[in-house]
Amino acid sequence: MSDERADEAGQVRYDQARYVDDGQYEPLLSEKDQTRVEIGGDGSDSPLPDDLTRDSLELPELSEPELARHYTRLSQMVYGIDSGPYPLGSCTMKYNPKFTEDVAALPGGAVHPDRSETSVQGTLELMYRLQDYLGRIGGMDAVTLQPPAGAAGEFVGIRVAAAYHEYNGEGHRDEVIVPESAHGTNFASAALGGYDVVSLPSDDDGRVDLEALEAALGENTAALMLTNPNTLGLFERDIEEIAEMVHDVGGLLYYDGANLNALLGRARPGDMGFDVMHYNVHKTFATPHGGGGPGAGPVGVVEELAPFLPAPRVRRDGASKSEPGYELFEPEHTIGKVHGFYGNWLVLVKAFAYIARLGDEGLADASAKAVLNANYLASRIEYDVPYEPFHHEFVASAGEQDAADVAKRMLDYGVHPPTTKWPEIVPEALMTEPTEVESKATLDQLAAAFDAVAAEDEATLEAAPERTAARRIDQTSAARSPRLSWQALADDGESESE
Ligand SMILES: Cc1ncc(COP(=O)(O)O)c(C=O)c1O
Repeated sequence: MSDERADEAGQVRYDQARYVDDGQYEPLLSEKDQTRVEIGGDGSDSPLPDDLTRDSLELPELSEPELARHYTRLSQMVYGIDSGPYPLGSCTMKYNPKFTEDVAALPGGAVHPDRSETSVQGTLELMYRLQDYLGRIGGMDAVTLQPPAGAAGEFVGIRVAAAYHEYNGEGHRDEVIVPESAHGTNFASAALGGYDVVSLPSDDDGRVDLEALEAALGENTAALMLTNPNTLGLFERDIEEIAEMVHDVGGLLYYDGANLNALLGRARPGDMGFDVMHYNVHKTFATPHGGGGPGAGPVGVVEELAPFLPAPRVRRDGASKSEPGYELFEPEHTIGKVHGFYGNWLVLVKAFAYIARLGDEGLADASAKAVLNANYLASRIEYDVPYEPFHHEFVASAGEQDAADVAKRMLDYGVHPPTTKWPEIVPEALMTEPTEVESKATLDQLAAAFDAVAAEDEATLEAAPERTAARRIDQTSAARSPRLSWQALADDGESESE
């Protein structure tokens, strides 16, 4: 990319930091070792008594500044949400306001999970109120805060559905229907939950094909998993009819909450006929992503399913109390525990703080901005967006270009690429979700990056990225055979920086 092109495109000039020492990217701490005190060895030089030394303790010896610089450098050699926009459709890496970190860091937050219920009433009250907020936002009657991520929430939801069917003598139901455009975790959760997965094609508009659904439904149907808006950002207009069709055969309707930020404060899955849902608190509210964890993926259900939720849940005015208060309890037919203690408590504090701070109006405003931002960005780019009208995300097609090359090249323009090659219904998909947090100026920067890449030739794209610390990595090997131990690297005698 020439600097002129960067200027023409209205881009910030972007060069990622790159620290090279002796031909190697920022060395590992063990390689920077500046041993000052000999610990172990033959013990003769050690200031410690012999019985306190050992040979095996190979901790690197570094000063505090060396350590701080090491981690700062590493953080400068990657692209993160604090570096610039990150429009990762569906996977949603959005900027989380830092005040939630302050709230989670308040002294009262660090409670020991083994403390008695009476001594952690504030903790339990927050959990109770969060259960209540989430229930009201989703239109659900009962909520568990235990699951540690959206995908874990899906698994819990499916197990709750299974327990419900089993309890009602309907254990023969062994199929879960999943649209072919669904997120991979839906298929995985249904399969892990013990079900046969029936894949449902989309119609020409990119929505649920009602005829195909009719054909797939039957006495073996345990549930249909849907996200709404779907992964193309399209609202399932026939959702009430879909719910009726599923319920008519005795099945349950599962809502994948990944796209709830498109509806927040405006429409509720419970009102559409969904029976069970998970909340991706990192997408809809303000918490870390489960993958960068710890995360949380609470699950909400309608009344009939509440007795099957994981334990413990929190209730008010517990019968075992002489004084009104909050207590943990085990739902009558619980599927059991799915996480230690209260779930990822401090993540829940962040979600609570965000919801409380925004309130009803703020949440509705967030969804309006999420939808507006996606539509504004799509209207500004050259790439074709075949399916409309979309909500908080859209799926553009890279056309003749390879979407993976486009993604790598976008990094050279100082923006993170969108999700690529999925859903497959759009050729060379660029699934883009700018989120509600970005300003018009940032959306313009993103649009300029899309358009600059759209105008480039194959050779340029195939050589990208050229301005990042690590260049063209072999991503298949990186994902399938990662070398995660510094010892393995040392044995190989080579760096893993690229
Ligand atoms: C549509 C959809 N469903 C479920 C998930 C799983 O959520 P999590 O990443 O919190 O496990 C994702 C993740 O990005 C998603 O995009």
